[in-house]
Amino acid sequence: MSETLGVASDHAGLELKQALAAELSKRGLVVREFGTTTSDSCDYPDFAHAVARAIDSGEIQRAILVCGTGVGMSIAANRHAGVRAVVCSEALSARMARQHNDANVLCVGARVVGAGTALDIVDAFLGAAFEGGRHALRVAKINFEGSAS
Ligand code: RB5
Repeated sequence: MSETLGVASDHAGLELKQALAAELSKRGLVVREFGTTTSDSCDYPDFAHAVARAIDSGEIQRAILVCGTGVGMSIAANRHAGVRAVVCSEALSARMARQHNDANVLCVGARVVGAGTALDIVDAFLGAAFEGGRHALRVAKINFEGSAS
């Protein structure tokens, strides 16, 4: 079964989110929209938490969140134990966040990057796989402090 990718934004990220979702759908990805769907001013945590709950429950595995900077979305999403959200403004960090940190939520700032760069970032994130190995132990320590040895 193919993966369902969650997408959400606030009003500031609406246009970029819709552009990204349209492109990813065109390529055959299954995209689930968590809102917002209008340009009315709204609160980014409402949408970050909705997506994070879906990740915590296993309904979706990965998601893209868009707000003005990506920052608020990432702070809210990272309050959930099963979420490792990253804000990225370039592709290298997005790729490494998958490979080394097993990040499962990508946050993008619509007021920070243009649509072309945002798509590059999304492609880097979706195209990279977690490398496991030594990184798995480190990722495990994110939620549970452990001995350094
Ligand atoms: C909305 O004005 C803005 O604060 C929000 O989109 C986001 O950038 C917050 O982190």
